[in-house]
Amino acid sequence: MKIIRLKTELEAEIESLKSENKTIGFVPTMGALHDGHKTLVERCVAENDICIVSIFVNPTQFNNAADLEKYPRDLYRDSEFLENVGCQYVFAPNPDEIYEADELKNQFEFDFGGLDKVMEGKFRPGHFNGVVQIVSKLFKLVQPDKAYFGEKDFQQLSIIHHMVNSLKINVEIIDCPIVREQNGLAMSSRNERLTEDQRKKAVEISKVLFESRNFAGQLSPKELTNWVIEKINAVSELNVEYYEIVNTKTLQPINSWSEHTVGCIAVFCGEVRLIDNIRYNSLNN
Ligand code: PAF
Repeated sequence: MKIIRLKTELEAEIESLKSENKTIGFVPTMGALHDGHKTLVERCVAENDICIVSIFVNPTQFNNAADLEKYPRDLYRDSEFLENVGCQYVFAPNPDEIYEADELKNQFEFDFGGLDKVMEGKFRPGHFNGVVQIVSKLFKLVQPDKAYFGEKDFQQLSIIHHMVNSLKINVEIIDCPIVREQNGLAMSSRNERLTEDQRKKAVEISKVLFESRNFAGQLSPKELTNWVIEKINAVSELNVEYYEIVNTKTLQPINSWSEHTVGCIAVFCGEVRLIDNIRYNSLNN
């Protein structure tokens, strides 16, 4: 497995791979890899001639300096992890390899068609501008045939689909299901920051979400939203930032049940912000 730190080196590798007609699969990450990433990388390895993983803690998508600083970083461990899964290239640039000074100062402008106005976008202003900025840059460099993203970041994935369509980027986006620990907790790099006691409490998030499926159709979306928020807030150290039941395409909150709905949640567990989501797919509840 090759670890590449420079853009020029990556460009040369891509040119050579393209000249050999190799198909390129790409998994963009911010490192701190876990079994959720493993499934993305395994799929990427299985479906492409070449698997490239980027590890870059993207400063422009953090709207909280402390969060950026505390984000776990361990390139050595991550590289070992990726080598064991069969990845062939890791692209791990420094920020100044990716950004000019003015790009770090000014917000990247993009027309999200309203997808950035709700949920994560409402509570993390500028976050998705940073995500689109980095992912579009990485796509330009890597020129992947397929790129793999987890459904845990449901809104991010919707925005990536929108970005690819509106910027006419020639890449197939592969949506990969949420990977959960045995107890149901959605895997996340942020889980590393939870104490053992907090981890037990954080399990309640997915538990309540799964339980809520039993009431969809009986309670209105608004009532079910309140039910979820109250149940989770009743657990000490858990503090719901938002829970929204939305249409999977528009991400707008729904007033009455229909197909293609997803409930998206952000919860603080102590100081650690966790997200998760659950599909309410049919009206057979
Ligand atoms: O989901 C993530 O880890 C990041 O948002 C991404 C897509 C790698 C962009 O920095």
